[in-house]
Amino acid sequence: MTGEARKFAAANVKVGGSALKLAEDVESLIRSKGACCAFPVNIGVNEIAAHFTPSQQKDVRFLNGDVVKVDIGAHIDGYPADTAVTVEVGTKNHSALIESVETALEMTIEMAAPGTTVSTLGGTIERTIRSAGYKPVQNLTGHSMERFNLHSGLSVPNVKNWDRSELKKGMIVAIEPFSTTGKGKVEGASRGGIYRVARDRKAPSNISTFFSRLQSEFGGFPFAGRWCEPLHPEASTLLPKMVRMGMIMSYPILIEAGRGVVAQAEHSVVVTDDGCDVLTR
Ligand code: CO
Repeated sequence: MTGEARKFAAANVKVGGSALKLAEDVESLIRSKGACCAFPVNIGVNEIAAHFTPSQQKDVRFLNGDVVKVDIGAHIDGYPADTAVTVEVGTKNHSALIESVETALEMTIEMAAPGTTVSTLGGTIERTIRSAGYKPVQNLTGHSMERFNLHSGLSVPNVKNWDRSELKKGMIVAIEPFSTTGKGKVEGASRGGIYRVARDRKAPSNISTFFSRLQSEFGGFPFAGRWCEPLHPEASTLLPKMVRMGMIMSYPILIEAGRGVVAQAEHSVVVTDDGCDVLTR
């Protein structure tokens, strides 16, 4: 389902299109198949690498020449899959940049097997991207996943590092190379409309009620501010309050430090006896 949603998204990034409409259409597709969203559809244009979801207040329209990343997560009964694609709108100025992450992803999938270290995978991603003339984004990583947990401990870097952690049979891992024309680093900017439940605190009853609702609705998965309007009439004023109280956390938009263009490709895989199976083709 997640793979199908990615293909739908890739086919529907068009000049003049609204990012909000695209995000909502993809999310509706996931729900129409009987799955839930594991996080809001992330749409990152050009130098925005991750953690922005459009809303009524903050929508963007795709322009000719934009490099658009769509990152999609769905879950059934808490078991998540995560996949992403990059599309250039109308032009072909960044085909090599986009190809560098697609190739890095395929090469990493080939190598993923029990005993492969995450550093080896990161080294393959780094070499592939650098040999194409770009920089890997050094402070973004892929991640192992478990039930109700998108980041269950194992990180797959975009570069060779000192982490000798090994893949093991049965692990579910999202592999997601990022490359850029910029500095190879992302930094946090303003809030991107994506939240996650943090911890319960003593609070006025309207806040406590809303908090329980968020907890039962999303558990540990990230959610969009725009999803909360049907859950509580005052959602838009309560959310920032709850961030200040530490009850929920807000993800900052991740933007490339040199304002370079960023491309991303992502699949979720399950590690098998002697390799891995891609779950999100
Ligand atoms: Co991911």
